[in-house]
Amino acid sequence: MKSYLYGLNEDRFFKKTVEQLVREYMIEEIIETGTYKGLGSTMVFARTNLPVFSIECNGTCVDMARDNLRDYPNVVILHGYSLKQKEIIQFLFQDNLDEKKWKAKAAGRGRGLFFCLRELSCPASAENLLIKLISNNKRQLVFLDSSDGVGWLEFKAFMAIKQRKKKILMLDDVQVVKHSRSVQELKRQGIKFHLSRTKRWGWASF
Ligand SMILES: C[S@@+](CC[C@H](N)C(=O)[O-])C[C@H]1O[C@@H](n2cnc3c(N)ncnc32)[C@H](O)[C@@H]1O
Repeated sequence: MKSYLYGLNEDRFFKKTVEQLVREYMIEEIIETGTYKGLGSTMVFARTNLPVFSIECNGTCVDMARDNLRDYPNVVILHGYSLKQKEIIQFLFQDNLDEKKWKAKAAGRGRGLFFCLRELSCPASAENLLIKLISNNKRQLVFLDSSDGVGWLEFKAFMAIKQRKKKILMLDDVQVVKHSRSVQELKRQGIKFHLSRTKRWGWASF
């Protein structure tokens, strides 16, 4: 299993693809789950000059990202959860993935259920921000890159919104537990998923 030791800001093909998608689909806004320090995907999105809304539940990361992106007034880092925190935690426990398999799928990232629960127990007053930001008719590029354990839940939430036809969906970590099921589901529905050369990330239009 591939170990991703580089940030998306160092992936030239990621940058090029984002620029192409923005142009080709006349994207108006970029929405992202999972900012971390703001130096990876968020930096790439910031440089498009489009309005960028990035959701991050960890307050320490929010402060670092705001500082790292201080030169980009087009970027808003929202401190909160992509979905409802209670539902996320319930989902993590209910998700009937075998823990060993789950760890194996997250190999190279050192992730597991324990890590996810830690990541998702940060105090943050805002929640369900992904749904609030994408329930509209805007042409948005939506990038789902939060916790390994939440990828599938965020994907299902995205697929459930009526207005998704005007949006581009980008997924990171599609070979591991975060979005391996999301890609399988897109294929099952006959929706083309454009996989990157690195096989790490990809995108779909609707
Ligand atoms: C994989 S990192 C994001 C990496 C970033 N996109 C980049 O390219 O550098 C995941 C981040 O998502 C945050 N996170 C995890 N689950 C979340 C959720 N449900 N809502 C908001 N943030 C979440 C974590 O605190 C962590 O900083």
